[in-house]
Amino acid sequence: MKYDVVLLAAGKGSRTQLEYNKIFYEDEMGKSIIEKSAQPFIDDVDCIQVWITTTQDEIEFLKQKVNHKKVHYVMGGATRQESVYNALQNITSPYVMIHDGARCFLQKKTIEACKKKLLEKDACLVMVQAIDTLKRVQNGEVVETIVRNECYHAQTPQCFASALIKECYEKGKQEGFIATDDTSLVEEFSDVKIAVVEGEYTNIKITTPQDLKSH
Ligand code: CTP
Ligand code: MG
Repeated sequence: MKYDVVLLAAGKGSRTQLEYNKIFYEDEMGKSIIEKSAQPFIDDVDCIQVWITTTQDEIEFLKQKVNHKKVHYVMGGATRQESVYNALQNITSPYVMIHDGARCFLQKKTIEACKKKLLEKDACLVMVQAIDTLKRVQNGEVVETIVRNECYHAQTPQCFASALIKECYEKGKQEGFIATDDTSLVEEFSDVKIAVVEGEYTNIKITTPQDLKSH
């Protein structure tokens, strides 16, 4: 099971209200979010390349923070989707895992579960079951209650046969389809069934000032 990783770090982290990109936020040991999110992949012998999306302004600083022979850097785009697209052009392994650089609590066992699933399926993603009851609301009024045990929160990694995800991203670009995650493109542009890997509630994406406190 040889795979490459797209590790997304080319955002601004505006919702954290820091004055810099959240992926550089450091814990009390001086470890940044991006170092932590890259580490389990760097440590995995099956991971061949890690492509981190970045910007012209940040690439040099990023190189100082995350430096390993497996790690490469690619310019991101204006949106997460464009950043993934750019990074996918460099993928050479048969499989790819796409992971948010802002998810720094990913456990090795979750990566192993993804690899196992990829042996059977060409697409899978890490998710956790919804805990609270979910209701659909329109114009400030409840329309319906959704069957809770059918609802999951999508996380990352989202994992694919490389040829499949490249093709779906290409079609998405051609058709101007806007996706907030990677499997959405596979749902839209292929008949491939997407498998669920049950993950951990701790695999949060650092997004708000509150989340920074947990880092
Ligand atoms: N990302 C990226 N390229 C973009 C936008 C986002 O590579 N143009 C990355 C972010 O760096 C982040 C991940 O995608 O690791 C998930 O996005 P999000 O949590 O929304 O991060 P930001 O866009 O940086 O944060 P915000 O939306 O609060 O500005
Ligand atoms: Mg964003």
